[in-house]
Amino acid sequence: MGETAKVTIGDQTVELPILKGTAGPDVVDIRKLYAASDAFTYDPGFTSTASCESKITFIDGDAGTLLHRGYPISQLAEQSSFLEVCHLLLHGELPTADEFAKFEHTITYHTMLHEQFDRFFQGFRRDAHPMAIMVGAVGALSAFYHDSTNVDDPSQRMISAHRLIAKMPTIAARAFKYSQGQPFVHPRNDLSYAENFLRMCFSVPAEDWKPNPVLTRAMDRIFILHADHEQNASTSTVRLAGSSGANPFACIAAGIACLWGPAHGGANEEALNMLKEIGSVDRIPEYVQGVKDRRYRLMGFGHRVYKNYDPRATVMQKTCHEVLDEVGHGDDPLLKVAMELERIALSDEYFIERKLYPNVDFYSGITLRALGFPPEMFTVLFAVARTVGWIAQWKEMIEDPAYKIGRPRQLYTGAPPRDYVPVEKR
Ligand code: ACO
Repeated sequence: MGETAKVTIGDQTVELPILKGTAGPDVVDIRKLYAASDAFTYDPGFTSTASCESKITFIDGDAGTLLHRGYPISQLAEQSSFLEVCHLLLHGELPTADEFAKFEHTITYHTMLHEQFDRFFQGFRRDAHPMAIMVGAVGALSAFYHDSTNVDDPSQRMISAHRLIAKMPTIAARAFKYSQGQPFVHPRNDLSYAENFLRMCFSVPAEDWKPNPVLTRAMDRIFILHADHEQNASTSTVRLAGSSGANPFACIAAGIACLWGPAHGGANEEALNMLKEIGSVDRIPEYVQGVKDRRYRLMGFGHRVYKNYDPRATVMQKTCHEVLDEVGHGDDPLLKVAMELERIALSDEYFIERKLYPNVDFYSGITLRALGFPPEMFTVLFAVARTVGWIAQWKEMIEDPAYKIGRPRQLYTGAPPRDYVPVEKR
């Protein structure tokens, strides 16, 4: 055995192997601890626990680094495209020109939905939150693609990955159109992934959507920035759901449900609402005082893993300026509030001490609003982008020979054993 850690419980000492990754902290392998000592470990929120081994994404939260298959997110966001990043996450390597052409063709030719699928949308109220529609509609895919529900067939696993990446924008655009009371727009094979999505959202029968390279590039970049983020809450949800052998569509629906929460994917909507609530630069000191008094949190700030600037936030801030300039909102008062709030927070002891920096959501809300999306759609866009991360992580888990059903243990603090008392004697 190489390096080990020793745990002493009472008069018993258990020696545990220490595992080393390519990067990141060492990991104490506690798999044999229970058998050897009759004790569990306790780590609600997984703050010190690695739930799996993975080769996909690496984050160094202290350094503010995010790598996909070894490539820094800033390089991918500046030089790559979302579909190329999808290939990278799924297959482990950037594609050659031929591989990319084939991959793009495959994704493009899976974008249509079964005609019957459209009837699902009609069942929802028009004022349904589009994330509620997403949870239902994506889960329903398993009723349409029975072949892809065979998780033991590697080719079907790959087809389900292609189907999900391809169909998510179509489903998301339909959820949006339905809430707007506008007819659905079908995908077009001659457009890029981001262009196709924007057109499905913003084209109406009376007027086609006008392509704009700045806005298309911004959409593509937003997709890249949200594509994967290692074992976050929704990805862990997808892995846990998939660990029982559940089909990939059902697992992704579970991931979408988790993503919806305000502490996760819902944060950009909350961040935008917060900026609106502050309204003007002169109200910032009063708002910051409320945060210090713990009346509320600064939304779009802080991160479980990043205790430094979120590297995605840097790209997002630049994209935000580009989009606002392009649509003529360069002097948007909310942008002014955001920039001043960021400046104050980064120089205030309260935030410095707690290592609270802007996260990717801080600027994404203002950007998405300028692109024409209402706040309810923000998390939906996140789900579209994260689908590739979810499915790549799900595939990696299924293909790992060491994988087992996920089944955490607990520290039980409820009633001790007691006897049932008939109702007349209670
Ligand atoms: N505003 C003010 N104070 C904060 C914030 C914040 N946004 N985030 C953390 N803190 C403070 C806490 O009050 C706590 O202070 P204390 O030690 O004095 O009690 C300290 O920082 C640590 O906070 P925790 O809640 O332990 O940090 P954790 O790592 O669990 O939380 C989280 C991470 C949930 C993201 C948190 O920072 C937060 O609520 N942020 C706002 C929501 C948000 O922007 N979420 C987006 C995450 S990114 C994503 O999903 C893409």
